[in-house]
Amino acid sequence: MKRIDVITRPEKLVGLKEIFATHNCPGMTALSVMGCGRQHGYLPEMNFMGDDINLLPKILVFAVVEDEEVEGLLADISTAIGTGTNGDGKVFVTDVLDAMRIRTNERGSDAIK
Ligand SMILES: Nc1ncnc2c1ncn2[C@@H]1O[C@H](COP(=O)(O)OP(=O)(O)OP(=O)(O)O)[C@@H](O)[C@H]1O
Ligand SMILES: [Mg+2]
Repeated sequence: MKRIDVITRPEKLVGLKEIFATHNCPGMTALSVMGCGRQHGYLPEMNFMGDDINLLPKILVFAVVEDEEVEGLLADISTAIGTGTNGDGKVFVTDVLDAMRIRTNERGSDAIK
């Protein structure tokens, strides 16, 4: 299993949810976050308070998926989310050792189906 963390523009939430669903991943978690990348959060049109604004609103969506879904997921995220402009976001992929569905005690892959 892999954990997929997607940090991107808030308006991409619905599209992301659909992408995860098509990759056998019914569950996901989303948070509102603030962040910056290589541009240090600088947006000319948002610089009304001077250089003190250096974080922009983003969403962090994470989900735990089967290993074999990862490449397809990344391809679909790139296609559906990417605009080719700065701030499109990042995806981080990490190993997940185990999972458990609390209601049934199912473990591993059974817990994320
Ligand atoms: N190395 C990182 N670690 C953790 N979060 C990051 C990292 N890089 C970017 N982020 C998060 O992703 C968001 C979007 O980053 P962004 O797409 O601007 O990355 P970038 O590297 O600047 O690429 P680009 O040049 O396309 O803008 C940031 O606001 C931040 O929340
Ligand atoms: Mg950037």
